[in-house]
Amino acid sequence: MTRIANIRGFEFLDSRGNPTLGVDVELDNGCTGSAMVPSGASVGTFEALEVRDQDPNRYHGKGVLGSIRDIRNEFEPPLKKLADPDQSEVDSLLQHIDGSPDKARLGANTALGVSLAFARARAKDLNLPLYRYINTLCDFSDEMRMPVPMFNLLNGGAHANNCIDLQEFMVVPVGTLDIASAVRCGSEIFHCLKNLMDSIGFSTSVGDEGGFAPDLRSDSDALDLLSEAVIEAEYDLGTDVAFALDCAASEFFNSGRYVLQGQNRTLDAKGLIDYLESLIERFPIVSLEDGLNDQDWNSWQELTARLGDRVQLVGDDLFVTNEKFLNKGIESKVANAILIKLNQIGTLTETLEVMAEAKKAGYNTVVSHRSGDTEDPFIADLAVGACAGQIKTGSVCRSERTSKYNRLIRIEAEAGLTNFRGVREFD
Ligand code: PGA
Ligand code: ZN
Repeated sequence: MTRIANIRGFEFLDSRGNPTLGVDVELDNGCTGSAMVPSGASVGTFEALEVRDQDPNRYHGKGVLGSIRDIRNEFEPPLKKLADPDQSEVDSLLQHIDGSPDKARLGANTALGVSLAFARARAKDLNLPLYRYINTLCDFSDEMRMPVPMFNLLNGGAHANNCIDLQEFMVVPVGTLDIASAVRCGSEIFHCLKNLMDSIGFSTSVGDEGGFAPDLRSDSDALDLLSEAVIEAEYDLGTDVAFALDCAASEFFNSGRYVLQGQNRTLDAKGLIDYLESLIERFPIVSLEDGLNDQDWNSWQELTARLGDRVQLVGDDLFVTNEKFLNKGIESKVANAILIKLNQIGTLTETLEVMAEAKKAGYNTVVSHRSGDTEDPFIADLAVGACAGQIKTGSVCRSERTSKYNRLIRIEAEAGLTNFRGVREFD
């Protein structure tokens, strides 16, 4: 019989230089697992809560010593009592001990660290690579496949200090046949974009997710520049490479209106949908995330009715990786895809349940990093093991982003998965 022998928390640093929780789990047969927790900046209103110390004398109030204490005092004693614990038993005990619907008491970050570290220890115990272990937990019969990456090369909104209103401008290598070629494609476009920006006189320093944040005047200027970089890199725009946008519209929603500061325009929901439609007509955009505010459900219905059969409409802040909001979306015909962020819900089991629900309803799933992330590549294994189909994990530089791509390249070689779906993802 196996038991959890020891759980230990650490106060590590994330990619923004803020403290974040790291957790080690050790089983009594010597198998160990570690994980680190990411942190968002444009956080959805209904995400499970991240708990920090709020002690102004340490790390500007952002320390996580309280989480480490809670792991020791609240989580470890009952978890150690479980005989032969499996993932769902551990995760439901974590939920039960916290006791609040949004993990406000002990924090989604605290629960997640333990959940993911246990997953790694258990995978080792079962002698499985993490993605195969995750696959054994899935309640659906899709074949494991490599996810199509979305590379976030140009940034605006809450992730940049420029005049661009939309948050992320991503390139999607829809025409490539495997992850290694997809990563090469992203990198070649990234470097062509850098040279182009250099020649125009823009700063080429990168932001939180490794994308550039030049002082462009508008969203379409950003898409024009990206188009030029794709052509410069000798890829065929629309066939080899398409675009995806994360509008993060909740960030520029104010008193019922959408304030596009960069363009000096204020739009109602219909005006914003018209605007997004005009971008889709001009550029090969295959995916639109958070096109409207996360509480503007009626307008989301209109957006879906108008554009849902032309592009993938992804709910991030809208669904917050939560079955309750996803089901509301499915019932009211809102969006057709869900962004999956582990720390929006707080355990691996709950995350896989949401993914199963989405698949059942025919919604696409896109596994995602957070803008504040770590070198932990867990989401690469999650995307493969849970057959997500797509992954978004930033640009092609900064180690907390490349750790995910590099892990995917290793998984592809190791598992011999050849069913990369490229353009079929967006059919
Ligand atoms: P966040 O951004 O991690 O800052 O929330 C990512 C996203 O909005 O998709
Ligand atoms: Zn988003």
